[in-house]
Amino acid sequence: MSNPSYRIAPSLLSADFARLGAEVTDVVASGADWLHFDVMDNHYVPNLTIGPLVCEAIRPVTQAPIDVHLMVEPVDALVPMFAKAGANIITFHPEASRHVDRTLQLIRDNGCQAGLVFNPATPLNWLDHVMDKIDLIMLMSVNPGFGGQQFIPETLAKLGAARARLDAYERQTGRRILLEIDGGVKPANIAEIAAAGADTFVAGSAVFGARRAEDPHGYDTVIAAMRTALAAV
Ligand code: DX5
Ligand code: ZN
Repeated sequence: MSNPSYRIAPSLLSADFARLGAEVTDVVASGADWLHFDVMDNHYVPNLTIGPLVCEAIRPVTQAPIDVHLMVEPVDALVPMFAKAGANIITFHPEASRHVDRTLQLIRDNGCQAGLVFNPATPLNWLDHVMDKIDLIMLMSVNPGFGGQQFIPETLAKLGAARARLDAYERQTGRRILLEIDGGVKPANIAEIAAAGADTFVAGSAVFGARRAEDPHGYDTVIAAMRTALAAV
């Protein structure tokens, strides 16, 4: 049995954009819990992807939560646009916002769940004074900008530190903050990532790379393999 406290969030960055609606439907039918939506601006990161128009286009296609990962600078103007386009969760990188507390509040005021994203070299102390405005945190296990990179092993220790912070916060307040991991996640390493403390798993190339002509059910296979690995943690 899969542990219901784990979420798998395929990253649309690795989907076939020529058939995006069908990709969304298929990956959700294969057991995806969330859809991870990577927004890159060729400024905060050296790549350019998709914006609110594409979010709006996929919104009617699925009930699954859309998890918008903003790799943009500045951040604030895009928050209401994505909220209007149907985002459920919006995360951003604290270095990319002049006023982190204000941006978190802006996300919640627009009716979405709010989160901070930590690059491999970004310290967790950005959390110190804003925990009450956070619904989830996401650790990058690659440097942001591209799919298909290798998981950076140091992230396991950082996950442990993040887990300890969030558990201490939950003991104090009774409120649970989710801990998401993004980059290089696949069936072969998801169990150790979960054991280190993550509860929500972004996977782009591992999921969308799994469907080929010889395996039309590749998404089912790879998501099931991830759940099997998680069930053994
Ligand atoms: C990287 C993105 C990730 C990416 C993950 O900047 O934030 O969400 O799509 O892709 P994989 O799973 O291939 O590392
Ligand atoms: Zn991402």
